[in-house]
Amino acid sequence: MTTISDVLPVLGLRVSAGPIELKGITDDDLVTLADLAARGVHPPERTPFTYPWTDAPADEFALKFAQYHWRTRADFGPDAWVLNLGVWHEGVLVGVQGINTTKYLVTRTGETGSWLGIEHHGHGIGTAMRRMMCAFVFDHLDAVQITSGAFTDNPASLAVSRKVGYRENGVVRRERRPGEVATTVELLLTPDAFVRGEHPLEVSGVEAFRRSIGLDSD
Ligand SMILES: CC(C)(COP(=O)(O)OP(=O)(O)OC[C@H]1O[C@@H](n2cnc3c(N)ncnc32)[C@H](O)[C@@H]1OP(=O)(O)O)[C@@H](O)C(=O)NCCC(=O)NCCS
Repeated sequence: MTTISDVLPVLGLRVSAGPIELKGITDDDLVTLADLAARGVHPPERTPFTYPWTDAPADEFALKFAQYHWRTRADFGPDAWVLNLGVWHEGVLVGVQGINTTKYLVTRTGETGSWLGIEHHGHGIGTAMRRMMCAFVFDHLDAVQITSGAFTDNPASLAVSRKVGYRENGVVRRERRPGEVATTVELLLTPDAFVRGEHPLEVSGVEAFRRSIGLDSD
C-alpha cells in the first residue's frame, strides 16, 4: 500500500542519537508544534529570526505556522528543498531542526536553522540536534559544507554554532523587524572542523529521501 511517506519521503525520515530523535513532521505534529511555539520561543522584545514568524497574531499563529510547513512540502524538489524535522527529546516534541538549500546537486551545501520551545532551552538539546542534522547531511547526503547565521545578540545560537565547529564567515546587515536594522554573523562548517556528538547516529528512510532530492538517480 502506498503511504504518504512514499509520496513525500521527508515524512518517512528518522534520525536518532541517544535521547533525541529527529523525524518528518506530520499534520498532527504541526498542531503540537504551533502550540509549543505560541507559548514562546524567545524573549518577545528581540526576535532571533530573519523572518519574524513568531510575531504573528495569536488568532492567526497556528494557521500561518502550518502554512509555512505546508509550503515547504508543496515546493519540495531537487532544485530547492527545505528539510524540517521535528525534534523529540525523551519522546517529547520540543522544537524543529531544519536545513534549506537550492541547487544542492551542484552546490552540496545548505543552511541550518532551528528553534526550541523556550521551556526546553539551556539543556544541551540545541547543540545535540544541530550536531545530528550536520552529521546526517555530511554522512548521508554527501554535503561538502554547511552554513548558518545568527544575529549578534543571539549568544545561545552563536554558542551552539561554535561548539559544533562552525567558523565565522563575515557579517550582514539586515532588516529584522520592519524598520529595524540588525547584523548577523555568517557561519561556515566544513567536515574537518565538525565536532560530533557523543551518541552514534541511527538513520532510517534515507534511501527514499536521497532519491527525492535527486541523488542516486540514473
Ligand atoms: C538557539 C537554540 C536552539 C539553542 O538551544 P539550547 O538547547 O538552548 O542550546 P544548548 O543548551 O545546547 O547550548 C546553549 C549554549 O548557549 C550558551 N548561552 C545561552 N545563553 C547565553 C548568553 N546569554 N550568553 C552567553 N552564552 C549563552 C549556553 O551557556 C550554552 O553554551 P555552553 O553549553 O557552552 O554553556 C535555542 O536557544 C532557541 O531555540 N532559541 C530561539 C530560536 C533561535 O534563536 N534559533 C536560532 C536562530 S539563528
